[in-house]
Amino acid sequence: MSSTVTETETKSCDLVTFKAQTYGDWRDEFHKNGCVVIPNVISPERAQYYCDKQIEWLKKFDLGFDEKDESTWTAEHLPISFKGGMYFAYSAPHEKMAWEARTEPAVIEIFEKLWGEKELLCSFDGMNISPPRRKDISWSPWPHCDQNQNRKGMQAVQGLLNYAPNGSDDGGLVLMKGSSLLFNEFFSQKRQSFCHEDAPPPELEYMDLFLFSDKDVEWFKEKGCSLIKVNMNPGDLVLWDSRTMHYAKLPEGDQIRHVQYICMTPKRFASESDLKLKKECFDKWLGTTHWPHCNIRPAKEKPMRNGVVCPKDRDEPFEKPELNDTVLRLAGVKDY
Ligand SMILES: [Fe+2]
Repeated sequence: MSSTVTETETKSCDLVTFKAQTYGDWRDEFHKNGCVVIPNVISPERAQYYCDKQIEWLKKFDLGFDEKDESTWTAEHLPISFKGGMYFAYSAPHEKMAWEARTEPAVIEIFEKLWGEKELLCSFDGMNISPPRRKDISWSPWPHCDQNQNRKGMQAVQGLLNYAPNGSDDGGLVLMKGSSLLFNEFFSQKRQSFCHEDAPPPELEYMDLFLFSDKDVEWFKEKGCSLIKVNMNPGDLVLWDSRTMHYAKLPEGDQIRHVQYICMTPKRFASESDLKLKKECFDKWLGTTHWPHCNIRPAKEKPMRNGVVCPKDRDEPFEKPELNDTVLRLAGVKDY
């Protein structure tokens, strides 16, 4: 195994130095803007397979959800989610379909190319299945970044493998293009995270989440950044530096949003204690944050329904992943 770094080191230094160079591929755009959409990473047929698996998963809870009946697109017919469709509980991060997506050869290749190395760890992050036009939830933008101001440089790159078509009215990722490059400048002044009524619950604070105010959004725009809604085709992957301001737009069109969040970083970034904790999470089928190598906070919070633990709570996936070498290495369980 490669050498590891301590938690103190990860908080205070840049973890990777990228030489100024031209790659002649999507990496050029990524390093210029801090984000990039990579088209056709998996085939449309494969993307449809994942859509079907996600719908099948929702139906396994037996709460009456029917993807063809809009009247069932409400909380009482769905497992408990965050922001209208992000699933972190119920061992969802370890469902077979999640690990199948993480181990799609083309997905792994992208992260290998990005970091320039092959020994990677993958996050135990959630998926997003958001039915459109929900009448039982309200939504407002919650611009944030998922890297705290004490972690400098590019320390994590988040990804999202998209399964369903999404245009302007559909749900999707909204990014402040270019904002990652202004991270140090923004935080060189004392900044207080802005909390409003739509702030994430305290249990999600571990994500290193910083919430931006409307004034902050303007600050980035004045510096030349632009807020863009990323429209994607089935099979596309979007990458964004964790210092990038972003949020998810709730779907308003006809299309259910289907997404798997995937983040991979070099294993050598992880401390021994974080690797141990990650293994414990894997053994217990627990999710963690989007960070693969640190912030390994076991998602032990129970999904709550009407003030009590959801009766559908579960501590293992419906379909367990195949425990092959690729899965075990990305999970940090097996040495490279
Ligand atoms: Fe985020």
